[in-house]
Amino acid sequence: MRNLKELSNQDILVSPSLLAADFGRLAEEVKRIADAGADMLHLDVMDGIFVPNISFGIPVIASLRKISGLLFDTHLMIAHPARYAEAFAKAGADHLTFHLESGDPAEEVISAIRAAGCTVGISLKPATPAEAVFPYLDKVDMVLIMTVEPGFGGQKFMQDMMPKVRAVREEIRKRGLTVHVQVDGGIQEGNALLCRDSGSNILVAGTSVFRAPDAAEAIAGLKK
Ligand code: DX5
Ligand code: ZN
Repeated sequence: MRNLKELSNQDILVSPSLLAADFGRLAEEVKRIADAGADMLHLDVMDGIFVPNISFGIPVIASLRKISGLLFDTHLMIAHPARYAEAFAKAGADHLTFHLESGDPAEEVISAIRAAGCTVGISLKPATPAEAVFPYLDKVDMVLIMTVEPGFGGQKFMQDMMPKVRAVREEIRKRGLTVHVQVDGGIQEGNALLCRDSGSNILVAGTSVFRAPDAAEAIAGLKK
């Protein structure tokens, strides 16, 4: 299943973040996580400008596309996302989430991502209020609520983001839209239920899945 539109937002989906994988064995790590039952693969792209860290980018995604059939859920933590949408799509990204705070006008980024043939997500940093994304809800497939400051894996989950998750989910429901709500940062078995109850249906998990002794168990734990 490579299209987010075909996945129900009634089900809980897990998107393991490759950021926590062993970068010396990326292909094996992606296969391992697919076999463990991942619904999609979360790819954290960082440019050292929008966030104070640099991860990986277009060539890595293109290489992984050759060895994996997973939906590539790409999280762009970069300045100028509109400029790069086509290149990420060509590399094999299925979905592109950009940050509302990236500096590019949101309409422009959404159009560029649609033109490139990918589904669209908008992400909000912790300080950005829920209402900021409301004008775009009918134009996107996903809203990503960050539950840590973007930039690094392995940080502590911010429980105080839950009212924002609720507010976004409630607005989506009120308008009768089918939009996925994703949470990202510090997600593990102990807070997965809270995220779900708050209205999120896609859980991103890096450390708690890739670094678990048994990834299949970790994914099952997030879903149960
Ligand atoms: C943070 C990234 C997250 C991160 C999640 O900037 O967007 O996707 O990798 O990692 P964990 O689950 O370890 O917090
Ligand atoms: Zn992410």
